[in-house]
Amino acid sequence: MNQDIELAFIGCGNMGGAVLNGILGGETLPPEKILVVERSEALIARWSGRGVRCTERLEEARRVPRILLAVKPQMFSAVAGELGPLPTSSLVISVMAGLSSDSIQGALGTNARVVRTMPNTPCQIHAGITAIAPGLGSTPEDVQETERIMATVGEVVHVEESEMYAVTAISGSGPAYVFLLAEAWIDAAIEHGIEKATAERLVKATLQGAARLAGGDQDPAALRAAVTSKGGTTAAAIARLEELGFRAAMNEAIAAATRRGRELDSEVSS
Ligand SMILES: NC(=O)c1ccc[n+]([C@@H]2O[C@H](COP(=O)([O-])OP(=O)(O)OC[C@H]3O[C@@H](n4cnc5c(N)ncnc54)[C@H](OP(=O)(O)O)[C@@H]3O)[C@@H](O)[C@H]2O)c1
Repeated sequence: MNQDIELAFIGCGNMGGAVLNGILGGETLPPEKILVVERSEALIARWSGRGVRCTERLEEARRVPRILLAVKPQMFSAVAGELGPLPTSSLVISVMAGLSSDSIQGALGTNARVVRTMPNTPCQIHAGITAIAPGLGSTPEDVQETERIMATVGEVVHVEESEMYAVTAISGSGPAYVFLLAEAWIDAAIEHGIEKATAERLVKATLQGAARLAGGDQDPAALRAAVTSKGGTTAAAIARLEELGFRAAMNEAIAAATRRGRELDSEVSS
């Protein structure tokens, strides 16, 4: 029944859905060559409506040559029990945080080739960045194939698997740090007497403008220096942020996310 299916999504929520949207939009694969395994009725209706074959049965994906794992890491053991054992000829592409290719192979009971990726939520608007790391057994062609898929939702960068915990903490979780900054910034604006709607506009437009500048060639430190006149208002704010340990807080946050990635892996492999 699934002989023509070339790629199966195991879980197609936020991240799987962003990648599938990119593939369909970029016409990388036609919908009839894609299988979605989902248990959410709403998601099944959504992807069926785009012409993609959908099922709740994990075993239907077992013989598909490329499998993209996009369930939460905590759900993976249960999923692997029903999905595996996979044929050794399968290419398994994981977007899951934390789980090493060794743990993925172990849980799936297979020597299938594994490529790990770490995308982020801006992939939903084709503005993501995905780190790709060759995992156990994978070939340069597998990495290329993965790049072809992930490039449909944004930029791609190549890293080693050993760097994946830190990369996850930096760019995978990264959008949340920016959103937290925006929340705190809007709250501060309101505290200083600005009406909520205006506060939101001021902060969002500033973030967007600064993000566009930061996306150019100039170094962030140079961009910051350009807004920070000696003895001025920005200098006063930056000095206070430094006193309050802004950089140390950022470093600790990355360390906490990196540690959590390792814990997720040991929870699956134990
Ligand atoms: N969101 C991010 O910012 C981000 C960034 C980088 C990487 N990731 C990785 O992407 C993965 C998915 O995250 P997400 O945010 O996309 O999660 P999500 O929106 O919850 O999507 C996962 C989907 O898989 C479904 N699912 C779970 N178990 C299933 C099963 N046995 N059979 C069929 N479908 C099943 C879930 O259904 P239920 O809702 O019913 O459980 C859900 O619809 C995670 O491993 C995460 O580490 C996420």
